[in-house]
This record gives sequence, C-alpha cells and structure tokens, in this order.
Amino acid sequence: MANAKVLRKCNPLVFFCIIFFNFSLISTESPNPDSAALLQLKKSFKNSDILNTWKSGTEPCAKGKQWLGLVCHNGKVTGVHLGTLGLSGKIDVDALTKMPNLRSISVSDNSFEGPIPEINRLGSLKAVYLANNRFSGKIPADYFKGMGSLKKLWLSNNNFSGEIPLSLTQISSLMSIHLNDNHFSGKIPEFKQNNLVSLNISNNDLNGEIPSSLSKFNQSSFAGNKGLCGKQLGKKCEESVAGAGPSSSRKVSNNQSNSKIAFWLLSLCVLILGIMVFAILVMKRRQEDEHAFQNDNLEESMESAGWEGGKRDVELSVGSTQSRVSTQKGVTAQKTRSTNKSAKRRLGDLVVVNEKNGMFGLQDLMRANAEVLGNGTMGASSYKAMMPDGFSLVVKRIKEMNKVEKDRFDAEIRKMSAMSHPNILAPLAYHFRNEEKLLVSEFVPKGSLLYILHGDRGPTHAELNWPARLKIIKGIARGLDYLHTQYASSELPHGNLKSSNVLIDSNYEPLLADFGFNSMISDNQVPQLFAYKAPEISQGHQVSPKCDVYCLGIVILEIITGKFPTQYLNHGSGGVDVVEWVRNAVLEGREAEFLDPEIVDNSSAIGQMQRILQIGVACSESNPDQRLDIREATRRIEEI
Ligand SMILES: *[C@@H]1O[C@H](CO)[C@@H](O)[C@H](O)[C@H]1NC(C)=O
Ligand SMILES: *[C@@H]1O[C@H](CO)[C@@H](O)[C@H](O)[C@H]1NC(C)=O
Ligand SMILES: *[C@@H]1O[C@H](CO)[C@@H](O)[C@H](O)[C@H]1NC(C)=O
Repeated sequence: MANAKVLRKCNPLVFFCIIFFNFSLISTESPNPDSAALLQLKKSFKNSDILNTWKSGTEPCAKGKQWLGLVCHNGKVTGVHLGTLGLSGKIDVDALTKMPNLRSISVSDNSFEGPIPEINRLGSLKAVYLANNRFSGKIPADYFKGMGSLKKLWLSNNNFSGEIPLSLTQISSLMSIHLNDNHFSGKIPEFKQNNLVSLNISNNDLNGEIPSSLSKFNQSSFAGNKGLCGKQLGKKCEESVAGAGPSSSRKVSNNQSNSKIAFWLLSLCVLILGIMVFAILVMKRRQEDEHAFQNDNLEESMESAGWEGGKRDVELSVGSTQSRVSTQKGVTAQKTRSTNKSAKRRLGDLVVVNEKNGMFGLQDLMRANAEVLGNGTMGASSYKAMMPDGFSLVVKRIKEMNKVEKDRFDAEIRKMSAMSHPNILAPLAYHFRNEEKLLVSEFVPKGSLLYILHGDRGPTHAELNWPARLKIIKGIARGLDYLHTQYASSELPHGNLKSSNVLIDSNYEPLLADFGFNSMISDNQVPQLFAYKAPEISQGHQVSPKCDVYCLGIVILEIITGKFPTQYLNHGSGGVDVVEWVRNAVLEGREAEFLDPEIVDNSSAIGQMQRILQIGVACSESNPDQRLDIREATRRIEEI
C-alpha cells in the first residue's frame, strides 16, 4: 500500500521514485550484499588468515579501511584481486555470482588446483586471471560461450590440457589471451578478433600451422610447441607436415605406413634445417664482410634509403658542414671503428639538427643493434637503434613525405627540433632523399600510450592508476597548447594526435611525436592524418586548429574509459565509438559507469574523472563552433 501511494504521488517521475525508493531501502536497511558473498567466498579458501580484514560488520569498500584485495567503485565491489596470497582450497563461484558488479577476478600466483572453476557463470567478467596455480584438466570447448564481455584471460603456468576452447574465438571483446606454459594440445583455432593485441600460447603441446589471422604476433607468442609451424617460428609448414596433423588425430590404423612417413618427414626436416643453418652462416659471413648491419630489415631499408653508396654526401647544402664535423668527432670518439674513407663519406648523409644526444652518423646507426618497432601510416616504419654509448634512438623511415623540397624540409625539421617543451619529442636528425625520409629521435622507454593502454599490462601492474592518467592528460594538453603557440599561423599545428603518437617516458610524462607533418606529407596521404577524421571534414569544411582539439577529445576519452576508439580504424569495425557512448552517458548522468574499472578503486577521485570525461566530450563535439578551443580546454584541464 505504501508503495502504491508513493507511485501515485509522483506519477511523472515514476521511474525515479522506484529507483530512489529501492535504493534507499537497500542502503539503509540491509547490509551490503557484497559483504556476505565475500565472507562466503573466504570460507571456501584454505590459508585465508591473510584476509583478516574480511570481517562481518565492516564494509568491504570502506574508505581507508577497504578489505584486502578488493577493487571498489561507488561503494560496490568491482574486482576481487587475490594474487600471491598463498591461498588454496576451492573458489566458491556461487558466492561470486552474488556480486552483481564484479568485473574482474584474479587468483594468480596461489596454490589452487583441480579443474577450472566455473567462473564462466559470471557472464559480466572482463578480466580473469588464474595464472600460476596448479589448475589442470581439459576446458570444455563451449566453456567461454556466455562470457561476451571478456577482455583479458590469463591461464598461464597451470597444467591445463586438451584443445584450446573454441568458444574463445567467438568473444569479440578479447584483447589479451595468455595460455602459455600449460599442456594445451591440438591445433590453434582461428582467432579473428580485431582487438586482440596480446597473445601467448608458448610452451604447450600444440601442433599444425599458425593461422594467418595471428600473423601479427611474433615468435615469442608461439615458441616451445614442438609440433607448431609457420613463418613466425622460421619453420615452414610442408604440405605433408600440415597433413600429418589431422591424420594423426584421426587415429589412422595403419601404423607401419605412418612410421615410414614419419621417418621420411624427419629426414626432410633435418635436411631443411641443415640448408637453413648453412644459409644463415653464409649470410652472416657476408654481413661480417661488409662490416655492417646487424639486422636484416634495417639493412634492407637503409640500403634502399641510399645508405650504401657514398655519393650523396654533398646532396644537402644546409647542414652538410655540420655533419662533416660530426663525422670527425664520431670517428675519433670511437677509435675501435674503421675509419676508412668510404665510411667517412657515408656519414655526411645524416643531418644532426640537435646535439643533445651527441653527434652520430649514419654509419653509427648502421652498426648499432637494431630492432624493428613497427609499421605505421604514411608508409612509415620504425626501428630502434641501440648505440654503443648506451643510449637508444628511434629511426623512422617515411616514404610518403614528398610534398616539399630539401630546403623547406630542412627548415621544417629545424623548427621542430628547436621546440623545447617537456611534452614535445623533437627530432634529433634527419636524412633526406627524394623518395623517402628518415627522422631520428630519442627512444622513449615505455613506448606509446596506445600500447600502454591496450597492450598487455599483466594482472598486477596497477601502475597506470588515476594520478598517472591525469598526469598524461595534462601533459598532452600542455604539449598541444605549446604547439598551437609555436605554429600559431598553421591550420593544423599537430595534425596527427592519437595514442600511438604519444610516447610515455619512465615517469609517465607524455611526449607528443609526429606533429607538424601536414605541410610535408604527400597530398594523397594527407587524409591519413588523424585530424582529418574530425567530423566537420567529411562535411566539406576546411581543417582548422579545432581539428587538433577533436583529436585531444578522443585521446582523453580513450585514456579514461580504457577503450580502443573506433575513430582510429579506417573502416570502423571493432573498437568502441567512445564519443557516442560517453556522450549519451553524460547526458543521462551515468558517467561513472564508463570509467575504466582499473582506475575507479580510488573513489575520492571519481569527481575529477567525471570532470575530465566532460572535458573530453566538449573537445570531441562534432560541431567545431561548439567545440572547446585549445586555450579553454587546457585551462579547464589544468584546474583539475
Ligand atoms: C597435470 O595433469 C595431469 C592430468 O591432466 C596429471 O596426470 C599430472 O600429474 C598433472 N601434473 C602436475 C604437475 O600436477
Ligand atoms: C615480440 O613481440 C613482443 C610484444 O608482443 C615484444 O616485446 C618482443 O620484443 C617481440 N620479439 C621479437 C623478437 O620481435
Ligand atoms: C610468452 O611466455 C613466455 C614464457 O613465459 C615468455 O618467455 C615470452 O616472453 C612470452 N611472450 C609474450 C609475447 O608474451
């Protein structure tokens, strides 16, 4: 009756009434349901003395007195993280099902054993960490069927066996799968997820060919599976080898002919291996003869960039004197190196525009240990060169940057290199050829923000917490503001702000890279710049500095939601349309639900997060007239 009265009284707001009424009932009269569930869970553990903060009559998410191992958001438990606590016994999944807000669970590095617990009954989990225990047995093929939100799965270092569950391939949200160091067998199923950024299935008993959908992962993800073949492992899948997989699992009865085939296959493998070893030895020898290039890819690219020939040392009028000087210095500083004439001449090709990391020449780069970092847009590829003096450089080779002549290019790079701001990564040197350019800059230790946010942080890395993220957002805004002052007359001061172009140093200070390219890259590549994704461009508007602000908005929403924005993809499948998603949430006052669960444990900062979220929305406003300008955006961010 009382309920009915209330309903009638506030007819226009029926919904709010019900919600408010129920909510206040729960929060005042019954104890937090999470608390009972957690106590039930604790009972199922052995050696749970360490959970002595888990006591009835106390609040699991009490400020300052939170129970050990919980992640809370708005007073509700969103994560149970019990890594490395020496626990064993059972995991009472029934108890966990009573926690409606639970999104992540970790029992890594404990001593649990037996079959995989039925955590698949928890359909809203985003992250499951069971690594480093003694779980064993097969996982049913359809085990993960109901786990449509799962992003991260860590089962490493257990004793699981049987095939990799097929249902894993059907979860489109999956970003990170770690099954290494178990006894999984059979073939690798086709993982077609776009979002998959991290995979480790090494050290199992898998066989057959590595599916082409996993070609972006390298040898390190697959090593230690004797029967596996594919280019990542440098082991060709001979047709007959590929055929051996299914036939062996089909239990062919004719054992004799099987062992004959096996014998011939083995001989073939030995032969192929022998040839490969021989070829490698010959190649190595040749490389040594040429005193150069420890990395094939770098060699190839540098060769095609013209580093082999010595004929271009006078190609550049501006800067060539300086680089000559660098030649001499470089050579005397490193007496062990060959000082033959051709080497000296080759050094002249690199124009060092900033001496803060000393002088170095092409030859130094070519002799450095090099590692391929990746390929990007605009026909660019990057290498990391580890110099003998202990510092590392990144060499970016860009093919599609052919709009301007040498003089103009030199002037632009010098302008960039003169930038002096803690959030700007200025180039140190360049090399100019008509068809392609090399840009050299410092190596930044933690890599790109994209990698940090969506790559693999592992279960216990809580480093990217809210203070770190706020610092990154502030740094990006400051860097962008600085560029807008330095390039005040440019229509696109940065032009390509996105998380892959924000590098993070060891103190979590962000550094903006790849700015100011708009005036230099080839016309057909201009639309590849991320600023051209601002919605007004597709409606026929000209680019403006407000396009950079749009990019800033996307990066802010990406940092705070932890989602990969669809805006970065060319054809829009995969990722999350962060702008639409968050805008609706803000309109409905539901911001808090969209914060990355990994930062919300610090509930005192929720207010700050919501304000940043609102700034992100105001920056990504599709109408440029309603969008914040960079001054205002920076001012509002600095206030937080
Ligand atoms: C691993 O699991 C198998 C059964 O699947 C069992 O026979 C074996 O003893 C287990 N090994 C360890 C180290 O627990
Ligand atoms: C393989 O990829 C991982 C990241 O996924 C990287 O850390 C590692 O350096 C790569 N290894 C090689 C040999 O390229
Ligand atoms: C995969 O796991 C193995 C063994 O733990 C490790 O050595 C390797 O670096 C891992 N590779 C990746 C890509 O995570």
